Amino acid sequence: MGDAIVIEGISKHFRVYHERNQSLKSAVMRRGRGTYEDFLALDDVSLTVPESSTFALVGDNGSGKSTLLKCLAQILVPDAGRVTMNGRVAALLEVGSGFHPELSGRDNVYLNGSILGMTRQEIDRKFDAIVDFSGVEQFIDQPVKNYSSGMYVRLGFSVAINVDPEILLVDEVLAVGDAAFQAKCTEKFAQLNREGRTVVLVSHSMPSVRAMADHAAWLSGGHLQAVGPAAPVLEKYEESTRGATGNAVIGGLEHNGSGEIRIIEVDVLGHDGLPRVDVGDPVRVRIAFDVAEPVENPVFGFAVEALDGAYLAATNTRNAGVPLGLVDKPGVLECVLPSVQLHPGDFIVTAAVTDSTTTHSIDHVRDVTRFTVDSGDRTWSGGYLALPATWGPVDVTATVPGRSA
Ligand SMILES: Nc1ncnc2c1ncn2[C@@H]1O[C@H](COP(=O)(O)OP(=O)(O)O)[C@@H](O)[C@H]1O
Ligand SMILES: [Mg+2]
Repeated sequence: MGDAIVIEGISKHFRVYHERNQSLKSAVMRRGRGTYEDFLALDDVSLTVPESSTFALVGDNGSGKSTLLKCLAQILVPDAGRVTMNGRVAALLEVGSGFHPELSGRDNVYLNGSILGMTRQEIDRKFDAIVDFSGVEQFIDQPVKNYSSGMYVRLGFSVAINVDPEILLVDEVLAVGDAAFQAKCTEKFAQLNREGRTVVLVSHSMPSVRAMADHAAWLSGGHLQAVGPAAPVLEKYEESTRGATGNAVIGGLEHNGSGEIRIIEVDVLGHDGLPRVDVGDPVRVRIAFDVAEPVENPVFGFAVEALDGAYLAATNTRNAGVPLGLVDKPGVLECVLPSVQLHPGDFIVTAAVTDSTTTHSIDHVRDVTRFTVDSGDRTWSGGYLALPATWGPVDVTATVPGRSA
């Protein structure tokens, strides 16, 4: 079996200007006066992606993952080195990339499909399947500027997978979809994999990466740290994130993100104010944060993991329909969970703040706190979830038709 993608020694630099918030005019005016620096986003990266693999790109924010995907999609041209793609490529890189805001969903399917190399007849034939998978039927004749970011992503992803790509490139965007759509995507990736397609994906969710990827590469500061079969590469990367290698370590917590808002502390409060509840009890989760720069409509959320790393549940202010408006001073947010249906044990909480689209990390703190679920006065059978079950006998003779009593 051959390689779907061969990357040979690619480098990519960006010009980084010294002044912040410079206007286009001042940038033009200063041209040639050397007020910028060259920043190396990819430094001599070589790797191959085996045909029909599901290949994960992992690394901290700013490590070059999106830049690498853009080089593969030929949106960016590397300054040095060479990329060879053996097969038809479809890419889903940014929310709404390739979409025209004023056009309807329907027109955008045609536009985007033709950009990705489909003929009009091909799109006619696949149109229903595309719309069906996206779940935006009711909105298909509305301009996409009225869509939520989740709707954008669902429609974009539906077009991309229906292009019948031999190689599919997917950046973080899928994290925007809801859980049901993410499950559908995971299933689709598995199907593409069975059909021998190659998928290269970037995801922040290590549990889903672990579940999906058979190969992986780890980038750090534009350098390739490791590449090969997924398990050892992901393990090395996770090991590195457990150390003090994040963007900032403050008060023993490792922060990852652009830092306009920082999560200071997260408390899980049971009925006596301790991080301890019985199965089925209510709990309050409080997130205290500091603000360095105002952010319009940030999204706060937290996730719960088991000690073995299994990702169990998450909630955020956007999915709960609570827009926060302009956040410009420190504060505390509270989330009430009316009933904790977790099996007795210890659990890990990860808290995060993102921008309004949830694609950009402002702060992310893994293992910010832990809490314990006690069994109360009952015994439980195991697993992650406590099912509130009621058992009782059924009168079989009365309910099975045709049986004589
Ligand atoms: N168009 C650009 N201009 C200047 N710097 C950029 C540009 N795109 C990316 N960068 C910088 O390159 C680095 C790698 O970015 P990126 O590939 O987006 O990382 P990742 O996707 O791993 O978070 C970052 O430091 C980022 O700020
Ligand atoms: Mg990125």
